[in-house]
Amino acid sequence: MSRTIIVSNRLPIKVLRDEANELQFATSEGGLATGLGSVYKQGDNLWIGWPGLAVDNQEEEEIVCDKLKSGNMLPVFLTEEEVHEFYEGFSNETLWPIFHYFSSYANFDEDHWKAYQRVNQKFCDIILSVAKPDDTIWVHDYQLLLVPQMIREQLSEISIGFFQHIPFPSFETFRAIPWRRELLMGLLGADLVGFHTYDDMRHFLSSVSRLAGMKVNQAQVVMGNRTVTVDAFPMGIDFDKYEGMASHPDTLSKEVEFRTSIGKTKMIISIDRLDYSKGIPNRLKAFEQFFELYPQYIGEVSLFMIVVPSRDTVPRYKELKEEIDLAVGRINAKIGTVNWKPIHYFYRSFNIHDLSAFYRMADVALVTPMRDGMNLVAKEYVASKLDNKGVLILSEMAGASKELSDSILINPNDIHSLADAIFEALEMEVEEQKIHMAVMKQTIKRYNIHHWVSLFLEQLEAIKSEQKASG
Ligand code: UDP
Ligand code: G6P
Repeated sequence: MSRTIIVSNRLPIKVLRDEANELQFATSEGGLATGLGSVYKQGDNLWIGWPGLAVDNQEEEEIVCDKLKSGNMLPVFLTEEEVHEFYEGFSNETLWPIFHYFSSYANFDEDHWKAYQRVNQKFCDIILSVAKPDDTIWVHDYQLLLVPQMIREQLSEISIGFFQHIPFPSFETFRAIPWRRELLMGLLGADLVGFHTYDDMRHFLSSVSRLAGMKVNQAQVVMGNRTVTVDAFPMGIDFDKYEGMASHPDTLSKEVEFRTSIGKTKMIISIDRLDYSKGIPNRLKAFEQFFELYPQYIGEVSLFMIVVPSRDTVPRYKELKEEIDLAVGRINAKIGTVNWKPIHYFYRSFNIHDLSAFYRMADVALVTPMRDGMNLVAKEYVASKLDNKGVLILSEMAGASKELSDSILINPNDIHSLADAIFEALEMEVEEQKIHMAVMKQTIKRYNIHHWVSLFLEQLEAIKSEQKASG
């Protein structure tokens, strides 16, 4: 059987330095790493990516390589300059804001673009150093848009898939990028390009025909003697893992611990990486307004807000952190009482048992991104609800809203409606909660991560077989 090589900027394992300057290994956060984390270990598959830390000597590189090798991973080391220009710069100060419709946050810096090209080439070279012609190369996400074309130039027949985990913006937004054509051509090196939603796919095809001047036939791009297929594949979660975790003894004992400290207070949770795309300030405004509109809930319900540190060397993220700190402090000081806090705010990551206990306990999950490719947290919440009790409030700007229409769907810019949605969720009868949760659960159980991987890879295989048959 042929091997699948997954390639993404971030590996599912990251390397950290502890206080004694020793290297430590931890699991990465973010939907890409947690989602695909369940599949790369199969057979002799391989995952190529950055371990998340600038390692500064040969000896340390070897330690990292050995450790990752035993887990089917191959590291791509980035220098500090590359981290600054490629990762923080072009990936997260140009592409991320444009692709999430925060165009005014975007920088267009020629040096960052050059670094992006160089680092994409670096990934390509490492892929080529291990790839065999009958391997399948599956490249992921916006940090590596040029890689498909770079590989294609060297291995013209190899099977290349690309999946974009974040939205693809409308043509009018995407056209702002000075290097838009090169980015599109980079992606078109793949045989199959996948997005979470039909809208993302349509936006991409419209950019391809209007900005790259390529002929588009329905969902296929004609590239001379080659065609590129474009399709929507909404990513799922490892349903069995999250369902199983919700009855694990460690999760249950965490729940007892948490419940002992909060007593009968109702719990609303929100879990995101620190990111302006996640709509955290709007959520806080809505939560504050909820207490103004429905003061009977003062002292009765708290928001447990987990913000996982992310990209905090990028200025916009730093500013966001300060904005959130101030808002939480202000709201707690204004509404809190001697024995009750409206917001329990955590700026750190949690292990899977803690997260599972939060999901289990939460009466309501508040998922309010301004834009999100998919949002796996929404799906993890549903999978963890063994008794089907609980209500999901979900932004219509998240890819997940297309599948989870039994949630309370909100527009994150509509603060008043969001405050009302919190009230509606808290007041919902248990029988109604169960009906909605059961419907959503059925969907995410069926369209789980294994289904997603098979669907993508089987379609890629079918495309390659067709190419071979036609000659
Ligand atoms: N997550 C985690 N540790 C935490 C909090 C969250 O690993 O302390 C995970 C969470 O379970 C989910 C992922 O991070 O799988 C976030 O994915 P999502 O698609 O919601 O958003 P992204 O971070 O990819 O934008
Ligand atoms: C999102 C992106 C991923 C990224 C993750 C974490 O899920 O789609 O590509 O890995 O966020 O962000 P980071 O910058 O820490 O890799």
